[in-house]
Amino acid sequence: MSTLHVAGRKSLVLLSGGAYPELAAEIASQIGVTLTETTRREFANGELFIRPNDSVRGTDAFVIQSFTTPINTWVMETLILIDALKRASAKRITVVAPFYPYARQDKKHRGREPISARLIADLFKTAGADRVMAVDLHTAQIQGFFDGPVDHLFAMPLLSDYIGKKYGDRDMTVVSPDTGRVRSAEQWADALGGQDIAFVHKTRNLDAANETVANRVVGEVDGRCCLLIDDMIDTGGSITKAADLLFASGATEVVIAATHGIFSPPALDRLKNSPITEVVVTNTLPISPESHFDKLTVLSIAPLLGKAIKEVFEDGSVTSLFAGQS
Ligand code: R5P
Repeated sequence: MSTLHVAGRKSLVLLSGGAYPELAAEIASQIGVTLTETTRREFANGELFIRPNDSVRGTDAFVIQSFTTPINTWVMETLILIDALKRASAKRITVVAPFYPYARQDKKHRGREPISARLIADLFKTAGADRVMAVDLHTAQIQGFFDGPVDHLFAMPLLSDYIGKKYGDRDMTVVSPDTGRVRSAEQWADALGGQDIAFVHKTRNLDAANETVANRVVGEVDGRCCLLIDDMIDTGGSITKAADLLFASGATEVVIAATHGIFSPPALDRLKNSPITEVVVTNTLPISPESHFDKLTVLSIAPLLGKAIKEVFEDGSVTSLFAGQS
């Protein structure tokens, strides 16, 4: 009996969750495709409904969702959309989560705590996701929480290119706001041509969210321009306290670079009132026009996500986008 051959056809579809359709549209235009439209409804009791308007049978489907406030709504919407795609026979489903939700709860600090970052990965998987793509996971180990391929993208090349061009002439120290990000500070220092590094000894209040103390700085910052790096700015407490400490330790200038600008209150007030020079973030999360302030620069992450989606679709190499960085 001769083998039955089905002509190998592959088609890519991009779908946007409801959180930040502008980013999805930017990614789609980078790739040169149009977004597959969806119908979305919310029932009186808050239950969500979302359905692709066109057939997705046999497709390589990418669901783009920015996990912004109200984060639980967007998590649920993403799960429902994955479920719809699975039941509509999409061949492969990738969750594109520029900001991975619940990433800060990635381990038990004390007994009886949840590991919510793992739970999110399990939920994606159970709903029907085959792969996940994310930018600057809070910790790299989260890649291992999802049972399947995870494309972990880095915003550092984009951010460091901007910082290098604007502040490259300064005597700079790259500062990690806590001990957990020292490796990132080293990578930043390399990317900026071999700058010094320092870190802040930060402690957190285990009984309250977003409460930290910047105790002291380890490293040389006196008379230097300090580049404070972080993965996210939520209430702005960690970063502005670290900046205060750097100024108190003799820094002449503090510039902040972070991937995810969450900007929960009172972040904007804290950042506006801080003597920092500039805050540079990407648009992994939406930043409303009212949230913009003079010192804020937002760089688009869409070109990177567009390239990565194309590499995945074409069975290319996502690693090649980062010239060996890991
Ligand atoms: C902590 O480990 C994170 O990397 C951020 O530094 C922190 O979550 C930011 O939160 P906030 O801006 O509320 O201090």
